[in-house]
Amino acid sequence: MSMTGALTIRHARTSDVDQMLMIINQYAQQGIMLPRSKISILESLQSFIVAYDGQNVVGVAGLHILWEDLAEIRSLAIAEGAKGMGVGKRLVLSLVEESERLGIRRVLALTYQKEFFEKCGFRVVAKESLPQKVWKDCINCSKLPFCDEIAMIRELG
Ligand SMILES: CC(C)(COP(=O)(O)OP(=O)(O)OC[C@H]1O[C@@H](n2cnc3c(N)ncnc32)[C@H](O)[C@@H]1OP(=O)(O)O)[C@@H](O)C(=O)NCCC(=O)NCCS
Repeated sequence: MSMTGALTIRHARTSDVDQMLMIINQYAQQGIMLPRSKISILESLQSFIVAYDGQNVVGVAGLHILWEDLAEIRSLAIAEGAKGMGVGKRLVLSLVEESERLGIRRVLALTYQKEFFEKCGFRVVAKESLPQKVWKDCINCSKLPFCDEIAMIRELG
């Protein structure tokens, strides 16, 4: 899917969900993201933003609050035809601003995309330095116990 018009970053709507799922699950099939079900997206729809080109959703990202001082960027994915045009960075920076607005000082990403997140102001941290609440949802993850994702943090203000 390529971009057809000017890009808007906005909160996700129920009518976006099928396209969000298509983008996320295409990468999940390749093993580079965790799969999401329709109900799991709908239940946490308020935590998602999308990049919309006037016709289609071309990018998706979610902000999951872990604690009063920590939020995690989840399910970040850009449609194949829209990669490398700054869409991912705009989504991440929008969620960083949202964290700041909420009074959260640290934003976490668990990722294979080290260079991309460095460009977004994140730095690699040791997984052991993260609080236990980060691993709460890992119990249901197919990557357990051999998770090879890199932990990266952006500190705010
Ligand atoms: C990783 C991903 C989100 C990046 O989004 P994108 O829209 O393609 O990236 P952007 O165009 O916003 O890139 C921003 C910067 O990061 C750099 N960058 C992006 N992807 C990169 C990569 N794989 N390796 C190195 N640098 C990369 C860009 O060159 C750009 O640098 P610049 O600011 O100096 O111009 C996207 O490629 C994607 O959806 N990948 C598959 C799913 C995935 O891995 N999601 C991450 C889960 S945490």
